[in-house]
Amino acid sequence: MKVLVIGASGLLGGAAAAALSDNGCEVLRASRSSDLTVDVTDPDSVRRLFETVGIVDAVVVAVGSVPFKPLAELSREDFVSGFYGKVQAQVDVVQIGMPYVADGGSFTLTTGILAREAVRTGAAAALANGALESFVLAAAAEAPRGIRINTVSPTVLVEATSHHAAFPGFAQVTAERVGQGYLKAVRGVQSGQVLIPERP
Ligand SMILES: NC(=O)c1ccc[n+]([C@@H]2O[C@H](COP(=O)([O-])OP(=O)(O)OC[C@H]3O[C@@H](n4cnc5c(N)ncnc54)[C@H](OP(=O)(O)O)[C@@H]3O)[C@@H](O)[C@H]2O)c1
Repeated sequence: MKVLVIGASGLLGGAAAAALSDNGCEVLRASRSSDLTVDVTDPDSVRRLFETVGIVDAVVVAVGSVPFKPLAELSREDFVSGFYGKVQAQVDVVQIGMPYVADGGSFTLTTGILAREAVRTGAAAALANGALESFVLAAAAEAPRGIRINTVSPTVLVEATSHHAAFPGFAQVTAERVGQGYLKAVRGVQSGQVLIPERP
């Protein structure tokens, strides 16, 4: 099974790539600084990536940037930037990449706990995660050729130490466990699901 992992050099994407490759998948690793280059905020760049890789069995997207600021300081531009940086970027991968995914293949996106629980400074991220999870629900219902669409939506990772102060008292999950969530999404049968990797 050939799987394109966008953001494979990152914490979540790296965990996804490791779990998939340990389970016999051929993993194609893409990001802005990889040999397989893509900037998901640029639809032309996403188009060029798919033209380069051709047909794949599955696509994992583990990227997304959103501003974190107190609500009173979040400008309209911040919300728009979070939308483009996390939501539209991943939606573009689905829309542009659909013809390049084999029958019965899948897309797995990345959201996070802020769709379900609040933290200070997290309003723009919450909006982005919630929007993307609703997109997955509806888009999966219309995906052609048996293609499945899911999102992995973890809590803060044990390894993401720079984020821990912003998530006081939150349960954490290991990157390895999150990698299994991506594996389940790619190898499994679910569609339209928000997959929440559980501890440890
Ligand atoms: N860390 C956590 O605890 C956690 C928990 C829940 C959800 N999340 C979500 O998971 C996603 C990934 O987080 P992470 O912690 O794994 O981030 P990370 O370690 O910073 O990794 C980000 C990855 O995405 C790539 N990337 C960044 N911008 C890109 C762009 N415009 N186009 C293409 N590739 C790009 C990076 O590589 P290049 O720099 O080479 O492009 C890198 O491979 C984010 O949306 C985050 O909100 C994270």
